Amino acid sequence: MKNAPSLRSVAITGTGKYVPERILTNEDLRQMVDTSDEWITTRTGIKKRRIAAANEATSDLASAAARQALENADVAAADLDLIVVGTVTPDMAFPATACFVQKELGATKATCFDVSGACSGFLYGLEIARGYIASGMAEKALVIGADKLSGIIDWTDRNTCVLFGDGAGAAVLEAAKDGGGEVVSTYSGSDGSLDEILNVPAGGSRCPLTSENVDSKLNTMKMAGREVYRHAVTTMVSAAKEAITRAGLTPKDIACFIPHQANLRIIETIAHKLDMPMERFFVNLTEYGNTSAAAVAIALDEAQRSGRIKRGDYILMVVFGGGLTWASSVIRW
Ligand code: UT7
Repeated sequence: MKNAPSLRSVAITGTGKYVPERILTNEDLRQMVDTSDEWITTRTGIKKRRIAAANEATSDLASAAARQALENADVAAADLDLIVVGTVTPDMAFPATACFVQKELGATKATCFDVSGACSGFLYGLEIARGYIASGMAEKALVIGADKLSGIIDWTDRNTCVLFGDGAGAAVLEAAKDGGGEVVSTYSGSDGSLDEILNVPAGGSRCPLTSENVDSKLNTMKMAGREVYRHAVTTMVSAAKEAITRAGLTPKDIACFIPHQANLRIIETIAHKLDMPMERFFVNLTEYGNTSAAAVAIALDEAQRSGRIKRGDYILMVVFGGGLTWASSVIRW
């Protein structure tokens, strides 16, 4: 995707997050599948993940994160023109999860839709909302990354079940006023020829849900871990460089890198390839595992609320997911 011609500058004016209460530890998983805390920690860096309650839908996670973001931005839900939810675990095939969020928040004048970009869903949404606001089509937008991956995981498959968790992160976007939070650059891309290395085979029109498919667990996530790992590294390094170049910067200008939270070893390799110290990288996968579209959105919220990023800092978000999809963005905080 080309860099949006900034007809007017767009800013993130508030962020929020929500993670469910229930914590699932590596020790808990050891009792479910043939794994160990040692394997999970050394191969991924993950220690815990959050699991949504049976009666918590993706829109519930999304709405809780959205409320925080709206409060942080001092924006009323009724003033939103646009709600975009990045998710691969929608409440239903339709209506869009964004419509459920609209109902929950009372955002009556917003146009609402979902983006299916897997782990890249939040940054895809950010790029879309930036375009709406830059062009004057919208004044105030809410972008959410939310996933309840626990519902599409095969809890008997140790290759995948130790990696993921549930959560939501949100950001409010408006035309920039004083420069804080300015979206300086965005970049995104996809490669549909690699659909088979990370997907949920059944449940759509290609392979409808039947009792046979469910018995074969085709309605759960399948991943060729090593291949995904390899593409994640090369793609996130090039996407990071592209957003930084589009911002007219070099990696050393970035105060805080917020990468997709899939695997600590992937993040360490990206840091090495960008010749940047790990201290510049924000990591919270230890606590939450990989929360798909929510991951960078939760990390952005935690980085700003903890004071890890300060007004005027350049930050870079970079993500990668099934599709394949990837995206990146530089923000001047
Ligand atoms: O958000 C989408 C993006 N997703 C990602 O970025 C994930 C990318 N992939 C990865 O992070 C890594 O490939 C994994 C963490 C999934 C796997 O790590 P790996 O170092 O690539 O391990 P591997 O798949 O090569 O498996 C090594 C061994 C295998 O045993 P054998 O065949 O060598 O005997 C696996 O069966 O580790 C075994 N293994 C496990 N052992 C204990 C796989 N999962 C587990 C487990 N506990 N949970």
